Order: sequence, then structure tokens, then C-alpha cells
Amino acid sequence: MSDHQIRDAETADLEAILAIYNDAVLRTTAIWNDDAVDLADRTAWMAERTARGYPVLVAVDDTGDGTGVLGYATFGDFRPHHGFRHTVEHSVYVRDGERGRGIGRALMVELIDRARRLGVHVMVAAVESGNTGSVIMHKRLDFLQVGRMPQVGAKFDRWLDLTLLQLVLDDRPFPDELS
Ligand SMILES: CC(C)(COP(=O)(O)OP(=O)(O)OC[C@H]1O[C@@H](n2cnc3c(N)ncnc32)[C@H](O)[C@@H]1OP(=O)(O)O)[C@@H](O)C(=O)NCCC(=O)NCCS
Repeated sequence: MSDHQIRDAETADLEAILAIYNDAVLRTTAIWNDDAVDLADRTAWMAERTARGYPVLVAVDDTGDGTGVLGYATFGDFRPHHGFRHTVEHSVYVRDGERGRGIGRALMVELIDRARRLGVHVMVAAVESGNTGSVIMHKRLDFLQVGRMPQVGAKFDRWLDLTLLQLVLDDRPFPDELS
């Protein structure tokens, strides 16, 4: 569909990103936190991502004034230790009411392209196992399911399983080989 465009997030998008994030915190098992955050939290989060050279992308409605954020996607370091430096873990959220019309895929296609251009070797998706839509979307994007960790999470008075999927972005034989 062509009624949205993908671009880098700007400070003015943070209120909308905050609303999408807090909706996922309060109403879903997509984020395993119980407490909503404030604008200062998301501002610091975006600053940290961009300082690191990592993208924060938004999908915006381009049928109206172009400021309606429909979803966002980003990645950060997978784990802090140096040996994980070529691997990132991403997140992608589409606003309630806008799902199922290609926005998540469009965000992911651009995010994968950005990761590849940054020399990322592996992208990891850590998805609550009952989140069928996310698991299917990742598989359609050629992510391979590599694990399922039973009951590692808890929210809404129940255990949550974590499904891990990964996409290897290139076939370079040595990690720090310059292309
Ligand atoms: C998961 C999420 C990002 C997917 O975004 P979306 O815009 O709804 O997905 P799209 O419309 O781009 O669909 C992408 C693909 O997944 C498939 N898909 C998406 N949701 C699906 C569902 N509920 N059931 C079956 N297939 C689904 C689509 O058919 C599509 O397949 P295709 O690429 O072969 O055409 C979105 O639903 C969302 O934000 N959910 C809540 C937050 C969340 O769970 N985030 C992910 C945390 S890991």
C-alpha cells in the first residue's frame, strides 16, 4: 500500500511513539513491562539510539498532513558484551487500528536495509510466543525461528514464553572483514 512512507523519526514524533509504546505496555504482552513511561524516557531512548548510530524509523500517514505516526521500528545492541557487537535486537510496533495493512512489513524492510548498510550480521527478534502476528510477519521476512524459552516472562498473572527468531544478513566468513 502506498498511503504511508517510512522515514527517520524526529523529536516531533516522540509523543506519538510514546502513545504507541505505552499502549503496548498497558494492554499487550508485546513489551514485558507493567509501567507506562513518560516523554523524557522516550526522548532519552531515542537520543541513545541515534548517538549509537542506530535508526529509529517511523511510518507516517502521507494522505494527510504527514505527521500522523502509524508505527515505528528500531534496533539496539543485542547484548552488551563486545562479542555480540555484530548482532542487534529490534522492535517494531504498529498503532492499534492500523495493523494488518503492510505497515509492519514496510518498517521491517527498511530496518533490515539500514542494518545491512551498517554492517550488522544478525538481527534478532524476541517475540512473546502467543504473538502470532509478529511470529508470522518475521517468518514471512525470512527470519528463522531458532528457539522457544518456556515461562521466562510474567505479565497479567501468567507465564510468558519467548520465541527467538533471527535473520543473518550477509555471508562474510570473518566478523571484522572489511567489504
Ligand atoms: C506485529 C506487527 C508489528 C505486524 O505489523 P502489521 O502492520 O500488522 O503487519 P503487516 O500488515 O505488515 O503484515 C506482515 C506480514 O505478516 C502477516 N501477518 C501480520 N499479522 C498477522 C496475523 N495476525 N495473522 C496472520 N498473519 C499476519 C501478514 O499477512 C503479512 O504477510 P505478507 O508479508 O506475506 O503479506 C503489528 O501487528 C503490531 O504492532 N502488533 C502489536 C505490537 C507487537 O506485537 N509488536 C511486535 C513485538 S515483537
